[in-house]
Amino acid sequence: MKRIISPSLLSADFSRLESDIRTVESAGAERLHLDVMDGNFVPNLTFGPIVINGIRKLTDCHLECHLMINNPDKYIADYADAGADTIIIHQEASANLMTDLNNIKKLNCAAGVCINPDTPIHKIESVLEIADYILVMSVFPGFGGQEFISSTLQKMRDLVERKNPQTVIAVDGGVNNNTINSVFDTGIDIVIVGSGLFSAPNIPQRFKELSIG
Ligand code: DX5
Ligand code: ZN
Repeated sequence: MKRIISPSLLSADFSRLESDIRTVESAGAERLHLDVMDGNFVPNLTFGPIVINGIRKLTDCHLECHLMINNPDKYIADYADAGADTIIIHQEASANLMTDLNNIKKLNCAAGVCINPDTPIHKIESVLEIADYILVMSVFPGFGGQEFISSTLQKMRDLVERKNPQTVIAVDGGVNNNTINSVFDTGIDIVIVGSGLFSAPNIPQRFKELSIG
């Protein structure tokens, strides 16, 4: 089965973002992972809707926006307007997950929920039926280049068993040439790769290696 790799632009070179996007597109990427951080929910700051709207104008790739922000309900519409295809909010940051995910769907975006490495599956139990996308963090969010937390593999296996067949499961953090096989072996659908892709001397070659396994 084809492995789906979603490059995380957090590790791209923002001084030549368009060129990095073209590189991963021509290597075969059909999705891009955009990490939004607010300096509050996570101890780092990145970019928001203005930059995402600029990226939207550059590419037809499916844009998955990973909102590592508090009060995501206040900003969902801004990310939909900016051109997001999937909007992912954190369980830990949402006051009402069901309402927030339904609001994302009403804006014609796929609704994603993300859980940190120490958040158990039962915290998203109530939305397993309606979530379009579940993101399992395999590092604590905030920075690229961290080490994969292997205890999260069991959570991936459990979710693969329990999810609605229409829901896709993605994994984010520390995925690279060394860890990617154990992640896909759990049966999940998509891996996010940041530093494990953009730090390669030959990015298209690395994309191919990651896709083949
Ligand atoms: C981490 C972000 C990730 C990050 C992954 O908080 O959510 O998407 O870019 O980077 P790597 O693949 O380097 O762990
Ligand atoms: Zn992410």
